[in-house]
Amino acid sequence: MEIQTTYQKTILFAAFKHSEKNQTIPGTNLPYVVHLSNVAIEIMTAYQYAADFELDFALKLALLHDTLEDTSATFDEIATVFGVDVAHGVSALTKNEALPKSERMLDSLNRIKKLPREVWAVKLADRITNLQEPPNHWDAQKKEQYKQEAIQILQFLKGGNNYLEERLNGKIIDYQNYIDAN
Ligand code: NI
Repeated sequence: MEIQTTYQKTILFAAFKHSEKNQTIPGTNLPYVVHLSNVAIEIMTAYQYAADFELDFALKLALLHDTLEDTSATFDEIATVFGVDVAHGVSALTKNEALPKSERMLDSLNRIKKLPREVWAVKLADRITNLQEPPNHWDAQKKEQYKQEAIQILQFLKGGNNYLEERLNGKIIDYQNYIDAN
């Protein structure tokens, strides 16, 4: 399938699932699909700089990465429509809510690390797009925590994708600058 067709089919599925819940980007009125499209463009760009990178697989993961966590989509549904490898990737990118909050990130990173590098790349891309100027209502501790989590992702997934690692590193520096400016 041509990559444009993959993109269009997958973003429609994801947009439908997230809009069922009227999900928006936290702190804004923007539809959640904007976040998914931001992750997808990071992946499209990173693909140009990576060897042995399956764009079709990575793009599906980018667009679907929050469907299990946030929508009515199920593992079996994703496996049926997009294949079992995509379902496994999305599953690893999904936090296990049965665990205490403080353990969820490390648990997800451990599961991601056992899967192909495309899954790592989507985790890096997700955090790159999420590391924007922090909301004003966040206190210093929350901002610092979010930064530390980004550092944890970067260190844990070292060797996954050079281009995205450098981009995430730059975003962490920008984020520290936002913190310092306030
Ligand atoms: Ni996300």
